[in-house]
Amino acid sequence: MTSSYRPRRSLLFVPGANARALEKSTGLDADGLIYDLEDSAAPNEKDEARERLRTHLAAGAFQGERIVRINTLDTKWGTEDLLMARGAGVDAILLPKVESVEMLREAADALAETDAPDTLKLWAMIETPLGILDVGAIAAAGRRHRLGVLIVGPNDIALSTGIEPGPDRAELLSWMMQIVVAAKAYGLAVLDGVYADFRNEAGFAGECAAGRRMGFDGKTLIHPAQIGAANAAFSPTPEAIAWAERIVAAFAEPENRDKGVLQLDGRMVERLHLMQSRALLEMRDIIANRGTTA
Ligand code: COA
Ligand code: MG
Repeated sequence: MTSSYRPRRSLLFVPGANARALEKSTGLDADGLIYDLEDSAAPNEKDEARERLRTHLAAGAFQGERIVRINTLDTKWGTEDLLMARGAGVDAILLPKVESVEMLREAADALAETDAPDTLKLWAMIETPLGILDVGAIAAAGRRHRLGVLIVGPNDIALSTGIEPGPDRAELLSWMMQIVVAAKAYGLAVLDGVYADFRNEAGFAGECAAGRRMGFDGKTLIHPAQIGAANAAFSPTPEAIAWAERIVAAFAEPENRDKGVLQLDGRMVERLHLMQSRALLEMRDIIANRGTTA
């Protein structure tokens, strides 16, 4: 974590095909919105959804991160979706079903042809068997191809593998952790998949907590009711903040300035914990100073 830290606790999918959802999305407290042109738009809605989204994005009212999920480039909609997103000045384009470095390169090349600024990132959904098997190579190539974030796609993984994940997602765990470690190895952010049962608050809170323990930076969401719980689950807890402040204060004591390791309340604290604590306090400050939609 560096000063370029960006909160990505809550990323809500907003269907481009749904005018009401688009209108509603502007005032929501999510860290980011993923405007969707892929799974949530039926084939006969796709062109209309793209045009509606183009108009919506031109108004530019949402203060958080803005991402457009396009159709794959081998469909008849993908390239037009990409060009619309490129023109709309969003922060990132989310590629679904990424399963090879080639798919990433193809999108990056298409953006390079439009002289897209380097600040326009690509995000990748890992949601097929080939994507899972190749996620290390995809993340490694990411640096050359604008890649910023990986997202787990549990519904497509279930569909393409035949697994039926239970409430604790045990069947998915090894694949999810493969995606997490690939992201960490190459300095990418990584987001947990959606939780479909959006009226089940306890179940959702439990899944957020599990995702956080697994190392995810945040969660992708399908319904506005999920935003508050995701923001809470992926923010530093008051206890963690208090402990981080104590660690920073302890290392600042004159007698500890040159020490590599200390004890605090009977626990070993090393300089790596000092760095971790500083990063956590910085994260707290950045979250507190978020824009007006905070
Ligand atoms: N983004 C923005 N607004 C949303 C929303 C979303 N993802 N989901 C629901 N809303 C809005 C509704 O329009 C409604 O607004 P209103 O009260 O002003 O009329 C309000 O939130 C309450 O919605 P609710 O009635 O509880 O749900 P619904 O039946 O309208 O929608 C879903 C349920 C699941 C169809 C809807 O949440 C959805 O489409 N989610 C995203 C699906 C998606 O993008 N899938 C692809 C990625 S997995
Ligand atoms: Mg999908």
